[in-house]
Amino acid sequence: MQSGQQQPQASDNTLIIYLSRTNNTKAVAELIHDKVGGDLVALELENSYPEDYTATVRQVARENETGYLPPLRTRINLDQYDTVFLGFPTWGMQLPPPIKSFLHKYELAGKTIIPFNTNAGYGVGSGFQQIRQLCPNSTIMQGLSLKGGIERDGIYLVIKGEKRRETELEVISWLRKLNILKPK
Ligand SMILES: Cc1cc2nc3c(=O)[nH]c(=O)nc-3n(C[C@H](O)[C@H](O)[C@H](O)COP(=O)(O)O)c2cc1C
Repeated sequence: MQSGQQQPQASDNTLIIYLSRTNNTKAVAELIHDKVGGDLVALELENSYPEDYTATVRQVARENETGYLPPLRTRINLDQYDTVFLGFPTWGMQLPPPIKSFLHKYELAGKTIIPFNTNAGYGVGSGFQQIRQLCPNSTIMQGLSLKGGIERDGIYLVIKGEKRRETELEVISWLRKLNILKPK
């Protein structure tokens, strides 16, 4: 076994669901999946955001102002899950509107939510706090927030190669703190 490698835990009741535009959050979701098993699902929209970054930032700002919840193409039955890892990039220093759609559409009361995030270096903003507000009857575990890409500057997927290996160690250490992976 390589250093840091763990056996996946028995986890039929675990869902890892994520939103990712440039695949950084997806890379973290895959690392979590490697460690804990469960089902890995990408959150998809009925109508994609524009390819253009600035147009997307503008659209997201409008949606946040009006409270618009973009319809989701992904349909999922949450009954079988009691633990939900929820991954998202920081958009406008808060939760992306599609994550708000997810949290409004699905009943997460009584479930454990474990949030994770990538961002361009400004942090998760109010994302974790918003999850606590939107899911008052769920147990919210300590989230993981990591620096990902900077699409504004043309820097896309960065969680690859050596950075992916470093990120793997951060993910392992976080999962151990949460007692999801056994400490060594
Ligand atoms: C519409 C939009 C808004 C963003 N706003 C922020 C922000 O407020 N703060 C930040 O640090 N990064 C921001 N970013 C950058 C992303 O959070 C960062 O690139 C992240 O790693 C992207 O994850 P992904 O590759 O999974 O899509 C924004 C990106 C987009 C597309």
